[in-house]
Formats: sequence, structure tokens, C-alpha cells
Amino acid sequence: MDPVNISEFETLARERMSRQAFDYVAGGADDEITLAKNRAAFERITLHPRVLVDVSTVDTSTEVLGQRISFPVLVAPTAFQTLAHPDGELATARATSAAGTIMIVSTLASFRLEDIAAAAPGPKWFQLYCCKERAATQQLVERAETSGYDAICLTVDVSRLGRRERDLRNQFTLPPEVVPRNFEDAANLSAFPQTERRSLLTAYVADLLNDSLTWDDVAWIRSITKLPVVLKGILTCEDARLAADMGVEAIVISNHGGRQLDGVPAGVDVLPEIAAAVGDRVEVLVDGGIRRGTDVVKALALGARGVLLGRPYVWGLAADGQAGVTKVLQMLHDEVELALALCGCPSVEAVSAGLVGRR
Ligand SMILES: Cc1cc2nc3c(=O)[nH]c(=O)nc-3n(C[C@H](O)[C@H](O)[C@H](O)COP(=O)(O)O)c2cc1C
Repeated sequence: MDPVNISEFETLARERMSRQAFDYVAGGADDEITLAKNRAAFERITLHPRVLVDVSTVDTSTEVLGQRISFPVLVAPTAFQTLAHPDGELATARATSAAGTIMIVSTLASFRLEDIAAAAPGPKWFQLYCCKERAATQQLVERAETSGYDAICLTVDVSRLGRRERDLRNQFTLPPEVVPRNFEDAANLSAFPQTERRSLLTAYVADLLNDSLTWDDVAWIRSITKLPVVLKGILTCEDARLAADMGVEAIVISNHGGRQLDGVPAGVDVLPEIAAAVGDRVEVLVDGGIRRGTDVVKALALGARGVLLGRPYVWGLAADGQAGVTKVLQMLHDEVELALALCGCPSVEAVSAGLVGRR
């Protein structure tokens, strides 16, 4: 079967991946209420297109943090991509670079951030999880800067890991070859037997993440890097204003793909109020549930400069490695172009608030 849409890529990935790995990627926290909201939110938003506009050429490109990208979709940070395919993040980097957009590389990548940067020349941001030890965090930031990353994207919604019940049910554990290679000592994990490794990994991640993070740490991160800082995981106007006051360059409105606090709203549902609260003081991105070109156009109309794509490219990776990621990004690009044309928008700039409603 040659998938004709992202949902069919998910079906293919389900066939190719182990149950454990598929559920790790697909699942959300607790009752997966927020996970479901991420899709339902887009389904409720209606499009109100203008007609008789010349759309013989449609320019899908846009600019994020001063970087021209081919379409307003960035590749979201996802951990442990070798769970989906042995080429993991290297394949994603090559496909994203060829597609002309930005890859955000996870702290918990299964290759070293240096190797991912070297795999393909395209623009990349480094997604940072703050470690308990400031020195370890600083080292990650310095390595990212040295390797040519263009921004630090600090994830702020993981003070603790959400409770992913599919993983509990499946007794999910990382296969021995899947290791968070950004940490020197991580290779030791594979020396442990399966059962011990599971608890060890949970303990390792809990031990790694700093659950005492505050706005002071954001100021500290800004002080140790020349790179622009992006905060990922903002859901309220109050926090968005604080981020703007602190001088961060961009925020990602995100509920972490429904994987953290269950019961929070879909990012796209709080997007209009947050975009209004910060104006043009920070660039506003949103993620969660983007599966169609029309979803991207809806997010733009509601005030986002661009969106992040999570699970769909992981499905592409699982289905067919680099070629699969390329196909997913191409498919979404073509859908964005078609949606813009049918909305009467010859460019991303032509998208305005009047394009969307709720009827
Ligand atoms: C398997 C998986 C791993 C993820 N790992 C990370 C991560 O390491 N860091 C991070 O900031 N977000 C992580 N996320 C969240 C994504 O960056 C993004 O917010 C979310 O997937 C967007 O929703 P979508 O999957 O519906 O597109 C992960 C998401 C998934 C599905």
C-alpha cells in the first residue's frame, strides 16, 4: 500500500513497529483526553475561503526566527527515533534538510547531537531538557552552539514525566540498542538485564530531569548562550507574557502531544488568546494534532507563525526510513499549498483571521 495521507502512514507504521514501540509513540497520558482533544479541536474549526483570487502561483514559504523555510511546518523534537528505524534522527535530519525546513533535535535523541548536525546541512534547533546539574545543562547548550544549532528550544512542561498507561501495560522498555547518546554514561544502560533496565531508565530520566526549574533558570540559559531561546510547552496567557517579558524569542504552545498533564486544552484552542496576549513580542508556534494541510492553515489563521509536526514523521520513519519522512513532509507541503489555493491565499502572509470560524 502506498499511503495517500498521514493517517495511512500511521496504519503502515503500526504494522512495521513492535506493539511496545508503536504504543510509546502513539500514546498519551492517563485517559488520553487531551490526546483526543488535539484532533477534535481541529475538526471543530471551519474554513471560510475567499474565491476569485488568482492562485496560479502559491508561495508556501515563511520565516521563523529570521530563517526562511519552505513551508510553515517544523519537525518537532521526539525522543529515541531509532525505536522507529535504525537510521533514526540521522534519517530525519536528511529528510528535513531536503524538505527545506527546521528539525528540532531532542535532548533524548538516540544519536549524538553532533552526529545529527553533521548528517545534513539544514537548519536545526536543539531541544533542551534541563539536567539537575547546571554544569551538565551548560555542556549540552555549548555542544549545540559549537555544532551549529540555530536555537535552544527549552521544554518547560516536563517537570515530571506524564503517566503513560500504554507503556505501563506493555511494560515498555528501551531495546538495548536504543540509548540516549547525548549522555556519556548512557551506554552503561545497555549492560543491564531487561527488567532492571526498565526501572533503571525511569529512574535515569527522573534523575536527569530538573523538577525545580523556574523562570530564573530561563534567565540563566539566556545568559549562557548567544542563540535565540524558544520555550516549548506554554498553555496560558500569563506564562506567555512572562516569556515575552523575559525576552525569549519564541514560544511553542503545546501540550506535548497529550503526553504530559491530561485534561489541558488543545494548543490550537488557546492559540488566539495567547497570540493576542503577546502580540508581536515573541514568535508564536503551536503543535499537537496537526495531520492535514488544512490544519496548518487553520493554525496560521488563528495567529501562529508556524506549527510543529510530531508523530506523523515518526510514522514515516517507521514505514520507510528517510524516504518515509520525505514522503510525509512532501505530502503535508502539497496539502498546505492546495489548502492555501482553495482558501484564496496566494501566500502564507495572505492568511487572515477571517478565514476561520466555528460553525
Ligand atoms: C514519541 C514522542 C517523543 C517525544 N519526545 C519529546 C522530547 O524529547 N522533547 C520534547 O520537547 N517533546 C517531545 N515530544 C512532544 C513533541 O515534540 C510534540 O510536542 C508533539 O508530538 C506534537 O503533537 P503531535 O504528535 O500530535 O504532532 C514527543 C512526542 C512523541 C510522540
